[in-house]
Amino acid sequence: MGASGPSVLIWHRVSMPLHVRTMAVDDLEWCHALNEANVPALGTETREAFDQLLELSSIALVATVDGERAGFTICMLAGADYESMNYRWFISRHDTLVYLDRVAVDARFKGRGVGRALYDEVDRLGLALAGPGVPFCLEVNLEPRNDDSLAFHDRLGFAEVGQQRTPNGKLVSMMERPIGASHM
Ligand SMILES: CC(C)(COP(=O)(O)OP(=O)(O)OC[C@H]1O[C@@H](n2cnc3c(N)ncnc32)[C@H](O)[C@@H]1OP(=O)(O)O)[C@@H](O)C(=O)NCCC(=O)NCCS
Repeated sequence: MGASGPSVLIWHRVSMPLHVRTMAVDDLEWCHALNEANVPALGTETREAFDQLLELSSIALVATVDGERAGFTICMLAGADYESMNYRWFISRHDTLVYLDRVAVDARFKGRGVGRALYDEVDRLGLALAGPGVPFCLEVNLEPRNDDSLAFHDRLGFAEVGQQRTPNGKLVSMMERPIGASHM
């Protein structure tokens, strides 16, 4: 289940109290609803399968703004018993990694630094758990094209290392950058 660690309070540039903490079991209903609201950017999951992701994860975080849930992310390390084709693609290339399986920010909070704050905390925890030099891996949809996510990940320093087509007909851009980049 998600790594615990001190939660982080970040005062956003417009003095918005943005807080990132470890995901808890009672966050799952909200996170699953946000996941489903963001299909096809994120893969659809049954509630049972979504709950299983938390069990497989090593880093699972929720961001809050003024105490209200605003976004989440779920990440795995190498060695997870996870059958995702995209996770397997990265695992076949790296002995160690941090794989970001999914991230979503509630539409009301987009563009306010919530996604960046989640990635900062993945960087901090990932560096501690996996060590320096480890790739921070994820995929973004090219078909259907997710321009918001492509712009966001370009801004955060991710670069394409490959592409693959998934059985559900998506074409995805496989992206990486070193873990911890936002803390170096
Ligand atoms: C992609 C997503 C997570 C970004 O989260 P966010 O909280 O809106 O992003 P932030 O406000 O933290 O933005 C961080 C940086 O990326 C840039 N950015 C974010 N969205 C952008 C967009 N649509 N176009 C251009 N730049 C963008 C911001 O300008 C910001 O740059 P700065 O910090 O240098 O000013 C969010 O849009 C989302 O949840 N989308 C729907 C689900 C999804 O697509 N998930 C990703 C699947 S791969």
